[in-house]
Amino acid sequence: MNEQTLVITIDGPAGAGKGTIACRLADKLGWHMLDSGAIYRVAALAALRQHLDLQDETTLAAMIPTLQIEFKQGEAWLDGVIVTGEIRNETCASATSQIAALPAVRAALLEVQRHFQQAPGLVADGRDMGTVVFPEASHKFYLTASAEIRAERRLKQLSEQGLSAKLCDLIQDINARDERDANRPVAPLKPADDAVLIDTSSLDQDEVFAAVLHHIA
Ligand code: C5P
Repeated sequence: MNEQTLVITIDGPAGAGKGTIACRLADKLGWHMLDSGAIYRVAALAALRQHLDLQDETTLAAMIPTLQIEFKQGEAWLDGVIVTGEIRNETCASATSQIAALPAVRAALLEVQRHFQQAPGLVADGRDMGTVVFPEASHKFYLTASAEIRAERRLKQLSEQGLSAKLCDLIQDINARDERDANRPVAPLKPADDAVLIDTSSLDQDEVFAAVLHHIA
């Protein structure tokens, strides 16, 4: 890790469009990209596979340094095996937000995330990138959008995958996840004091990307 290497953080709730913008920005700058949510998801998958108690903070935190978590060839890997699909299922999503609320788990994952800070630069996407993991980042963004808009985006994504869901259920899920992420005692979801806030509710991806580039320029 090189602490002089520049970092741009993009935080915000699920469905605000962070992932797409972070990937576009990393591509444009030729920088590395950290999807911190995927790291939490891989750790949760490992806990599920080992049948660990998802409340047992000490055991979960001790498991983390034993895991080999990698992102290469567009896939997420756990101990040498591709887990890209599995980390996105509902069981894993729910386990993820449970373990993400535990301070010792977050502390153990801190170093894992900081290892991604490599030259020439890093675009980091998550919930606490600008507040906790990379407080020294050169630019910080916080993307948000109303729960209804985020649920509509999710519905569209699901229907593109041939899956169906009810909008009202998605809104409820999003509100519940926001509530858990925003109210946990450690690293709650909130903008860094020095973050640029962008409400993406009425913007398309190109407009959000242009706004981000404008601030960086
Ligand atoms: O971004 P994604 O939806 O994949 O994140 C999954 C979950 O991981 C979030 O709902 C949150 O509970 C947790 N998370 C976190 N801190 C991060 C990234 C994700 O607590 N920096």
